Amino acid sequence: MATEHTPGLSRRDFIRTTAGTTAGAVAASIVAARPASALPQTAKSAGRVLGANDRINFAVVGVKGMGGGHLRNLAGELTQNDNVQVVAICDVWSKARAKACELNKLQESIAYPHYDKMMAAVGKDIDAVVVATPDHWHAALTIASLNAGKHVYVEKPMTHTLEEAFKVQAAAKASGKLVQVGSQGCSDPKWLKAREVVKAGKLGKVLWATGSYCRNNPKGEWNYEIDPEGTPETIDWQTWLGPAPKRAFSAERYFRWRKYWDYGNGIIGDLWPHRLHPLMLAMDIKDYPSRVACMGGDLVGTDKGPGPDGKPWGDPREVADTTLMMVEFPSGQMIFLAGATTNERGVDDVIRGNKANLLAGGTKLLLQPERPYTDEIEASDESVPDSGESHLKHMRNFIQSMRTNTPPNCDIELGVRVQTIVSMAETAYRQKRQVSFDETKKRLT
Ligand SMILES: NC(=O)c1ccc[n+]([C@@H]2O[C@H](COP(=O)([O-])OP(=O)(O)OC[C@H]3O[C@@H](n4cnc5c(N)ncnc54)[C@H](O)[C@@H]3O)[C@@H](O)[C@H]2O)c1
Repeated sequence: MATEHTPGLSRRDFIRTTAGTTAGAVAASIVAARPASALPQTAKSAGRVLGANDRINFAVVGVKGMGGGHLRNLAGELTQNDNVQVVAICDVWSKARAKACELNKLQESIAYPHYDKMMAAVGKDIDAVVVATPDHWHAALTIASLNAGKHVYVEKPMTHTLEEAFKVQAAAKASGKLVQVGSQGCSDPKWLKAREVVKAGKLGKVLWATGSYCRNNPKGEWNYEIDPEGTPETIDWQTWLGPAPKRAFSAERYFRWRKYWDYGNGIIGDLWPHRLHPLMLAMDIKDYPSRVACMGGDLVGTDKGPGPDGKPWGDPREVADTTLMMVEFPSGQMIFLAGATTNERGVDDVIRGNKANLLAGGTKLLLQPERPYTDEIEASDESVPDSGESHLKHMRNFIQSMRTNTPPNCDIELGVRVQTIVSMAETAYRQKRQVSFDETKKRLT
């Protein structure tokens, strides 16, 4: 059980380079080499069937940022109250591993530099894997974990490409294991209540929804601090790159990967999933999208001039700082989203029906009838207690799902549909065209 920090192991012993090894290659090759159809479709993977009272053993992969947050919850509050424990962690940066162990009082012997080594050593003890690496690693690690019979909590966006999304879907189906995508809004009671209101028909026919994720960061969003200890000696750069194109070590890319298409897709994949998953859940849309338009640009160009330190930027951002998207479903229903990192005035979260609108800003949920329907629909405050997004609630939902073997709130089917929108939006934005989805061929046209 993960408890004490091991004082016997020196920091120097622990922080040593792992560059040049090939571990991680196995997981990476899964995505590169196996089409979805090649994955076993029937055989259920080995792995414990969890009973209501079993302790659930977690591994967390990627423990610097978001993974560090999940680890704190899992090794703290959830270990204390929810009968789980952390049996392994994994990160390609030695400093991230050391810090995670120190902060969470974990033995350094449970910290691995490579996923494959972790699975070889303690895979049989793991029930669930949390994937919190940059996006370009999500699919490979999720598929490898599902194939090994593990349930997976994978951060949003679920995958980096559309093809990967269908491979994850196939692996989930073949393994019979659960996938929770880390879009915590889906476990916000507000959105679950919104779905009830919609399903009760209180909006009439649901037509379209608006939402946004807008910030204003004059220093350039995602220009996180570059830690001088993040060097080729402490980071296994080849493994970090994994399925991404090979290139020389770049601290800029390691710490600020969200700005580059090889690893992420800016607002589209980083911020919009937080609106898309809850909106689709609340609107009760189960279809794949039919058409997506997405436009915008790097309008302010925060990274084109001198950086915050006065020196020129190494690699200016590739992703947009301002972007708008329209999604259409086969039913004709639509979602309009705004996203910005250079202007914080967003568009309200509203689901619109022909009889009433559901305003979902903040923790409130307000039903407002359209003027012609005021006799039929009464305005009401549908807000529920304990509203608000939290990673803890979303992880608890995952834990509960594993115990009851029921789909979590942001399950694979919702995840793959949102990922289809994300990938369509990236293509639409980068190719400056409207993109359609061929559901039979699972291809963009
Ligand atoms: N749900 C949310 O609110 C939320 C918030 C922040 C980030 N995220 C998501 O979490 C993910 C991670 O984001 P972040 O900001 O924590 O990134 P980060 O760069 O701070 O942390 C990622 C960690 O993963 C490690 N890593 C990379 N490849 C690895 C591999 N193959 N094996 C093991 N470790 C590996 C890195 O060394 C790093 O420590 C992203 O997908 C992001 O979209 C979600």
